[in-house]
Amino acid sequence: MMDQSLSHSAYADTAEQGLAAGNMVGPKDSDEATAVAMQNTLLTPRFYTTNFDELDAIDVSPIRKEWDELINEMKADPNKGHFRKNEDWDHIDWDQMEPKLRAELKDFLISSCTAEFSGCVLYKEMKRRGRNEDITTLFQLMARDEARHAGFINDALREAGISINLGFLTQAKKYTYFRPKFIFYATYLSEKIGYARYITIFRHLQAHPEHRFHPIFKWFEEWCNDEFRHGEAFALLMKTDPKLTSGVNRYWIKFFLTAVFATMWVRDHQRPAFHEALGVDPEWYGQEVFRKTTAISLQIFPLALDLDHPRWVPALRRLNNANLRIAQAKKRKGFAAKLKHVGASMAAGWAFMQLLTIPAVKNDVPEETRLAPAY
Ligand SMILES: [Fe+2]
Ligand SMILES: [Fe+2]
Repeated sequence: MMDQSLSHSAYADTAEQGLAAGNMVGPKDSDEATAVAMQNTLLTPRFYTTNFDELDAIDVSPIRKEWDELINEMKADPNKGHFRKNEDWDHIDWDQMEPKLRAELKDFLISSCTAEFSGCVLYKEMKRRGRNEDITTLFQLMARDEARHAGFINDALREAGISINLGFLTQAKKYTYFRPKFIFYATYLSEKIGYARYITIFRHLQAHPEHRFHPIFKWFEEWCNDEFRHGEAFALLMKTDPKLTSGVNRYWIKFFLTAVFATMWVRDHQRPAFHEALGVDPEWYGQEVFRKTTAISLQIFPLALDLDHPRWVPALRRLNNANLRIAQAKKRKGFAAKLKHVGASMAAGWAFMQLLTIPAVKNDVPEETRLAPAY
């Protein structure tokens, strides 16, 4: 049999193979897309680096049974060969698409591809630097998955005449340093919220296939199961050290929950045409995804955000409004615009404080951590 891993990232066994696959090398890089992916704002996907030695020193023996089960699941590789176009892929006429929707769909795909690739780069680096076999095995498997996901989105983008220069991004994009514990909170949440986002869209489109305006949504079910497993891995890593989810770290967990949810809310509200085409109200979608993510996070977090608190949604709306005003002020020049920018930034900070000071709901973490994707 021909070695298909060389031709398409979907068959790659490692991130390195995936990134070198034929479908990852674009015919021509589009500078505009790469420029979008290069952006570093509060709302765009970032690249992370961490203290790899500290991560490498983690001992998984207290959670050996749950750990081995997860690793074996990932090694069994249920999604090998899945992330590529096949006969289920419908033709998309990008030129005929309504311009606003086209712009927002491109933006969605570029930012998703950057996020997948950002995970791939971080996981691959951990695998490269580590000596602890448990840790390097996990990170190589996760990097493999993220390379396939990024490769698949790249295929979709290529149809729109876009290719992101991933090699350039790796070299040129700014890396944000996070201590391992912050990587755990942030990455755990981003994997689990990724699962909740994709499964919510997938189930919605199962019920309303007339809203499926792009074929990539058909792949979201198996896709989000990968992300679910990645989240399980970070839950287990946190479980190895009870200090990570107690004491003062409870405040960090609350901060990350609030920041991740608020960022998603604001970012999704920047794509009104995209959500309208899906037939999804962004406020409903936000709360639905927050509820699923919260329910899952009870597996490891000692607290949950109170999503029904009377201040929660109003403060999210104020944060979004302030963000729109910041964007408007940035487009203009002069003193009045500067003043507007400062005012809107203060309003955004105030709205975020209002979210952060909502009392959390206490959670008794269960003995058994592992969950199955149930939505
Ligand atoms: Fe992914
Ligand atoms: Fe992931």
